[in-house]
Amino acid sequence: MSKVAVITGGAQGIGKALGERLGKDGFHIVISDMNIDLANKTVEAFKNNSIDAIAVQGDISKQDDQFHVVDQAVKQFGSVDVFINNAGIDQVEAVEDITPNNLEKIFNVNVFGTVYGIQAATKQMKKQENGGKIINACSIAGKTAFQLLGAYSATKFAVRGLTQVASQELAQFNITVNAYCPGIVGTDMWDRIDAGMVDYKGQKPGEAWQEQVDNIPLKRSQTPEDVAKLVSYLASEDANYMTGQAINIDGGIEVH
Ligand SMILES: NC(=O)c1ccc[n+]([C@@H]2O[C@H](COP(=O)([O-])OP(=O)(O)OC[C@H]3O[C@@H](n4cnc5c(N)ncnc54)[C@H](O)[C@@H]3O)[C@@H](O)[C@H]2O)c1
Repeated sequence: MSKVAVITGGAQGIGKALGERLGKDGFHIVISDMNIDLANKTVEAFKNNSIDAIAVQGDISKQDDQFHVVDQAVKQFGSVDVFINNAGIDQVEAVEDITPNNLEKIFNVNVFGTVYGIQAATKQMKKQENGGKIINACSIAGKTAFQLLGAYSATKFAVRGLTQVASQELAQFNITVNAYCPGIVGTDMWDRIDAGMVDYKGQKPGEAWQEQVDNIPLKRSQTPEDVAKLVSYLASEDANYMTGQAINIDGGIEVH
């Protein structure tokens, strides 16, 4: 029987590429996104490529929504074998300017949302008594400093911490927990970061993006499909012995 992968924020960007790749790998795909219209369009495109998929509306910052997505996945496809906490938001602000509202918003989505996703996935995977894989979106900003991304960076450091702790707690149930740390990926998120840098530093549109791309040792920006290749491995049985890791896939920007 085909396994089932839930992908939050799967309507576009990296999440969409994860759905396409895991669909080709043979998973049934459940996309959860706040933007249900776009999620439905993405699912239609998947179906045209022979990928069995459904879309469920969900705001990851609401605990009930995360449990609802899992319920819908089980109702439609019978199980949840892989749960990808992919949805996340960005903010461009110097630390001295971060407002309480913005701080609350980004932690609610990136950190609280990841906790709720882990909880919803764990409850179902424990019931299945067959293990499972939880995969979280971290970032190179979850490992090192990037100016003007202070709040974002703090949330991604938190995601890395959660990944490590959950991996230790859930190993006894054969549930692995890992994270992917992309670099500079050409999605709407980077369009927004670039626009934020224009406001902050008075740069020209596209300048901040180009600066970052010029610093990539492999000399090209990253595609969502580059990320999907790593996540395909993390979701596969080949990764059964890996847990607690946050793996960079960034063209060589960071070396440890
Ligand atoms: N783009 C990059 O360069 C980059 C680099 C490192 C890490 N990441 C991480 O990868 C993940 C995906 O990024 P992306 O570039 O594809 O972003 P994106 O903005 O292109 O897409 C994000 C998707 O998540 C959805 N979403 C946002 N908030 C949500 C919420 N509260 N509940 C449900 N859905 C929500 C959006 O509707 C959208 O479909 C994020 O966690 C991001 O932090 C991205």
